[in-house]
Amino acid sequence: MPQDKLPDQHLPEGEGGQAQHSDARRTFLKQSSLLTALALAPTAAIKAAELKFEEKVAAVFEQVKVTLNINGKKQKLSVEPRTTLLDLLREQLHLTGTKKGCDYGQCGACTVHVEGQRVLSCLTLAPMVDGKEITTIEGLADGDKLHPMQEAFIKHDGFQCGYCTPGQIMSAVACIKEGHADSDDEIREYMSGNICRCGAYPNIVNAIKEVKNGGQKV
Ligand code: FES
Ligand code: FES
Repeated sequence: MPQDKLPDQHLPEGEGGQAQHSDARRTFLKQSSLLTALALAPTAAIKAAELKFEEKVAAVFEQVKVTLNINGKKQKLSVEPRTTLLDLLREQLHLTGTKKGCDYGQCGACTVHVEGQRVLSCLTLAPMVDGKEITTIEGLADGDKLHPMQEAFIKHDGFQCGYCTPGQIMSAVACIKEGHADSDDEIREYMSGNICRCGAYPNIVNAIKEVKNGGQKV
């Protein structure tokens, strides 16, 4: 064998024979790399992809009808059974005043009223509140006239970035209605589920005290 020839150059060299051989080898390498990648893909990843697909299919078929009275307006809606009240308000109804903080019941940013009671909308499934009356921060004011708690928050600088504020105000109103606003300590205790990253707590307490002591209707 001449020294300058590689072994595979001795394969049949008909018309384009060598080029065909290289193509076949490239195709084989590509296919075997793909098979190896598939073989190495974690089963969990494949399962997750399948589940996501199944979830999407289920979402199309599994729709529950609910009727909610939101801020005084009756609405008939179709929702997936897993939809939280928070996601329904924000994503389907575009009532984005209610905020999503942690989404795990830890921060209070998503507080709304259901039948006059404060609830964490991130922990409440929409079908659970079928037929109920819901009030969000958008429904608190009376037309152009702010709710006394909204006015007090403004007066006492009860917010800085404002992200926690809708939830704080909904809890603050509930706190007075529940009869838990008789002292600073009691207010702090019953507002402790609402976290404020900006640390506006003293001003929030002052706002609540003013509304409570002013005897305004909440
Ligand atoms: S978003 Fe609901 S408690 Fe944090
Ligand atoms: S005002 Fe910013 S988080 Fe409370």
